[in-house]
Amino acid sequence: AAIEKGGYEHFMIKEIHEQPQAIFDSLRGRLDPESLNITLSGLDKIKDKLINARRVIIVACGTSWHAGLLAEYWIEELCRLNVEVEYASEFRYRNPIITSDDVIIAISQSGETADTLVALENAKAQGATIFGIVNVVGSSIARISDAGIYTHAGPEIGVASTKAFSAQLTVLLLFAIKLAEFKNSTSEEIRKQLTKELSTVPEKVKYILDSTIENIKVIAKKYQGATDFLFLGRGYNFPIALEGALKLKEISYIHAEGYPAAEMKHGPIALVDETLPVVFVATKDRVHEKIVSNMQEIKARSGKLISVVTEDDQLAISLSDEHIKIPASHEMIAPILAVIPLQILSYYVGIERQIDVDRPRNLAKSVTVE
Ligand code: G6P
Repeated sequence: AAIEKGGYEHFMIKEIHEQPQAIFDSLRGRLDPESLNITLSGLDKIKDKLINARRVIIVACGTSWHAGLLAEYWIEELCRLNVEVEYASEFRYRNPIITSDDVIIAISQSGETADTLVALENAKAQGATIFGIVNVVGSSIARISDAGIYTHAGPEIGVASTKAFSAQLTVLLLFAIKLAEFKNSTSEEIRKQLTKELSTVPEKVKYILDSTIENIKVIAKKYQGATDFLFLGRGYNFPIALEGALKLKEISYIHAEGYPAAEMKHGPIALVDETLPVVFVATKDRVHEKIVSNMQEIKARSGKLISVVTEDDQLAISLSDEHIKIPASHEMIAPILAVIPLQILSYYVGIERQIDVDRPRNLAKSVTVE
């Protein structure tokens, strides 16, 4: 087993470290770093359906659902197309209005999640086209899909998803940029800029792994005794706040909530006192000023601020009790980078609390019963 873990203590930390490679593999043969052209044969297969789609409905569970939520922001922005994001377990038992003009994007690491699979069977029976973003080749969801893109993250063993998530995000952003090209909904200049930055994500993730872990270990030790954590983000970083909270509860058993930073005023702010760590995902973007004022609001109530910030952001750094710096990037790329420190934080908090991080209680890697 030690050999399988390649010298790491757990699969989870091994898989966290595999992310530069997993992201690289998910781009390989799809993003040409020279010409900046994107080739997605899966997407070509249903090109006309997608160009003419009335809307896209994203269906997933757990961490894959968080990838879907971020994809909604990306696809709406770049493709000017209606997107809905659904929990598979809710979608399948509602009476959703589905037509043959809808394209369903299913996101699943395992390709075997029962709720997602049945939701797709139902949608397919109503005439929708199914597009799968799946990690496990030949899995049930891959087989039921009309077309799709494999994430190529490699086998993921740790129950809490890490590298599969960053590979999902990579593929979803590729998808959004390519569809924007087909729909002519985003200028070539912006598409090329995004493509170029996407090609640098593997090395930026590597840099984050090399530069933040020692600092995060100290933070984990300091806050491991907290009973609750709040994770806040806005815009592209809101799904990352949700994912940060999910990761922490999964492998540390500390209660954590993810919230849109402004919505925090409608409830969670009542929880804030000097014992509450509040993690801000606050990289520089179009809503940065807004999240900085949310940071001030938490600080005024003595909450402990742990923030993930763009490396030159002196203002956010000065407001924070603890900060984790990540490299500057386009605001649409930043969330792919910002999730990495949150995965590392949950891992080391779990270790401090002596949790079996690869096999946390009550959870399953793949939920094949409903
Ligand atoms: C389980 C796993 C999660 C995963 C979710 C969806 O809850 O523990 O890590 O995100 O299922 O799984 P899928 O394979 O469909 O992505």
